[in-house]
Amino acid sequence: MAPEPEDEIKDEKNPRPLDEDDIALLKTYGLGPYSTSIKKVEKEIKEMAKKVNDLCGIMESDTGLAAPSQWDLVSDKQMMQEEQPLQVARCTKIINPNTEDAKYVINVKQIAKFVVGLGDKVSPTDIEEGMRVGVDRNKYQIQIPLPPKIDPSVTMMTVEEKPDVTYNDVGGCKEQIEKMREVVELPMLHPEKFVKLGIDPPKGVLCYGPPGTGKTLLARAVANRTDACFIRVIGSELVQKYVGEGARMVRELFQMARSKKACIVFFDEVDAIGGARFDDGVGGDNEVQRTMLEIVNQLDGFDARGNIKVLMATNRPDTLDPALLRPGRLDRKVEFGLPDLESRTQIFKIHTRTMNCERDIRFELLARLCPNSTGADIRSVCTEAGMYAIRARRKTVTEKDFLDAVNKVIKGYQKFSATPKYMVYN
Ligand SMILES: Nc1ncnc2c1ncn2[C@@H]1O[C@H](COP(=O)(O)OP(=O)(O)OP(=O)(O)O)[C@@H](O)[C@H]1O
Ligand SMILES: [Mg+2]
Repeated sequence: MAPEPEDEIKDEKNPRPLDEDDIALLKTYGLGPYSTSIKKVEKEIKEMAKKVNDLCGIMESDTGLAAPSQWDLVSDKQMMQEEQPLQVARCTKIINPNTEDAKYVINVKQIAKFVVGLGDKVSPTDIEEGMRVGVDRNKYQIQIPLPPKIDPSVTMMTVEEKPDVTYNDVGGCKEQIEKMREVVELPMLHPEKFVKLGIDPPKGVLCYGPPGTGKTLLARAVANRTDACFIRVIGSELVQKYVGEGARMVRELFQMARSKKACIVFFDEVDAIGGARFDDGVGGDNEVQRTMLEIVNQLDGFDARGNIKVLMATNRPDTLDPALLRPGRLDRKVEFGLPDLESRTQIFKIHTRTMNCERDIRFELLARLCPNSTGADIRSVCTEAGMYAIRARRKTVTEKDFLDAVNKVIKGYQKFSATPKYMVYN
C-alpha cells in the first residue's frame, strides 16, 4: 500500500504526457455532430464574400455612401423638412483665426455685412476666407460650407444617364477601342502600374477621322462603360458672346471635373474652338483663341495620375492649334479610318440586328458593294432598305431592297460625301 500514494504524488509532479489518443479525445469535447461541416461552410462563405467584395471594388468606402440596405429614407426626409432654408453668403474675412473666439465677416448679398460666429455643426477648419457659406436667417451664423459656384450651363453638361451604346455596337475599330480603353480605363483601374513604372499615363486622346466613322459613337460607348462622371462639351457651346466668358466656362468645367472622384471630359467637334491661332489683321485678339488657350492651360494644370481624362473629337485635325496637340497635353492621337471589308460586314450586322430581315442575306456581298463608305453610310443603306420594304408594303426586308438601297445611297449620294475632301486636307 505504501508505494501507491508516493506514486500518485510523483505522478502529479511529473504528469504523464498526453498521447495522441488523449488529444484526439480532448478535441471532441464540445463538438456537436455538425461542427466540422459548419466550420467548413463558414470558411467558404467568408472566402466568397471576400471575392464578391474584390469584384465590386471599393466603391462604398470611396464615396462615403452606406449600403442601400442601411438607408433610412423616411427619417432622412423628415429631417430635411425640419431644417430651415439657409441663405447664401460669402465669408470675406476671419477675425482672430485659429483661436477660441474666432469671428467671421460675412457678406450677404444686397443686405449687409455681419460679424458672426459658427453654428453647432461646422468646425473652424472647414471655413476659409473667400468661401461661400450657408447662414441661417435668424442669427446669421455659419451653418454649412458651400462648394464654389459653378455656372449652371456648365453643370448641365454632365451626362447623367448613360447612353445605351456599348462597345458591341461599334463595328470594326478594334484597334481604336483598344487604344482608347488603354488610356481611359487602365489608369483609373490600375493606377499602381503606372506608379511602379514611374511614368505618367497619357492625359488625353484626340480622335480624328472622316465624318461618320464612329468617333462620337465610341465616346458614347466609353461613357456607358465607365462609372466615372462623364462631361460632354460641344466645342461651339464654349463660344460665348462676351469677352472672357468662354475661358471662364472652361475654368469652371475643369473645376467641376476636379471635384469628382473620377471624370472624363469629352470635347466634341473641337475644331470650333481649337483652330490654329492667326492674325486677323484688325489687331484685336480673338475670343475663341483665348478659350482655346484656357483649355491648354487647364490641360497642363492637372496631375496626369489624377482622375481626369480628356477626349477630343474632330474631323479637321489639320486646323487644330499645334499647342493643343503637343505631347504632354493630348498624348495620344487615334485615327478613325474608313472601315475595311470585315468591319463593314460587322457594321451591317449591327444595324440590321433590330430589323426584320430575310433569313440569309449576304452581308459580305453588300459590304463588298460599298467600298470607301463610312459607318454612317452603311446605316443609311439599312434605313433606305427598310424604306423600300415599306413602300412595297412588305413586313420583311429582302436582299433586293438592300441592293437597291446600296445603289441609291452609295452611288447616288456620292457627290455629298465628305470623305474625299477630308482626304485632300489630310
Ligand atoms: N464603326 C461603326 N459601327 C457602327 N456604326 C457606326 C460606326 N461608325 C459610324 N456608325 C454609325 O454612324 C453614325 C454616325 O457616327 P458618329 O456620330 O460617330 O460620326 P462622327 O465620327 O462623330 O462624325 P463627325 O466627325 O461628323 O462628328 C453613328 O450613329 C452610327 O450609327
Ligand atoms: Mg461626331
